[in-house]
Amino acid sequence: MPAEASRKAEALRKKVLVVYDSRTGNTEEMAKAVESGARNTGTAVRVKKALEATTEDLEWADGIILGSPTHFGTMSENMKKLIGESVKIRGRLEGKIGAAFTSSGGVAGGNETTLISLLQAMLIHGMVVTGDPIEVGGHYGAVAIGKPGKGALEACQALGSRVGELVARITASEPVR
Ligand SMILES: Cc1cc2nc3c(=O)[nH]c(=O)nc-3n(C[C@H](O)[C@H](O)[C@H](O)COP(=O)(O)O)c2cc1C
Repeated sequence: MPAEASRKAEALRKKVLVVYDSRTGNTEEMAKAVESGARNTGTAVRVKKALEATTEDLEWADGIILGSPTHFGTMSENMKKLIGESVKIRGRLEGKIGAAFTSSGGVAGGNETTLISLLQAMLIHGMVVTGDPIEVGGHYGAVAIGKPGKGALEACQALGSRVGELVARITASEPVR
């Protein structure tokens, strides 16, 4: 493909951002599986740790997948920091696709409330949020108890693929605003 055509094709390529926080590596492992699922759909993918991600990364993406360990039944402080900073760009994430994943210590340790806290922040940004596909669970997002096992990693991969497919199908070529 000539250079100009290839530049244009790259500019039109849909983009997925995976942002995660992780103290002991469990959510990080999940993030890698989410990344691989999104890459399989042909989208461009950026992966950032919560403390390294910027509002520019959020604006760059057509789809944003947030992963946080469950801390006191909600997202971690590091993830909350990024969400807090994102108020500066409120309105500019409208219409983007969002999804979430978490690792918790216990089965009933607040993993679902953590997913909801992440999805809630994205809803407040006017994003269109999705859960995990029905074949891997079909609820609020991907979950692992501690270190992710095979099933949790499959759910993460499926979540990444779902967002990759949705950005191609739903998001406009131009920003909503
Ligand atoms: C500050 C803190 C708070 C936590 N709160 C919870 C909690 O409310 N419920 C729970 O099930 N696990 C809780 N955990 C355990 C972590 O969610 C769990 O170990 C998780 O697998 C860590 O993921 P990471 O390796 O990505 O950091 C907490 C851990 C820390 C450090």
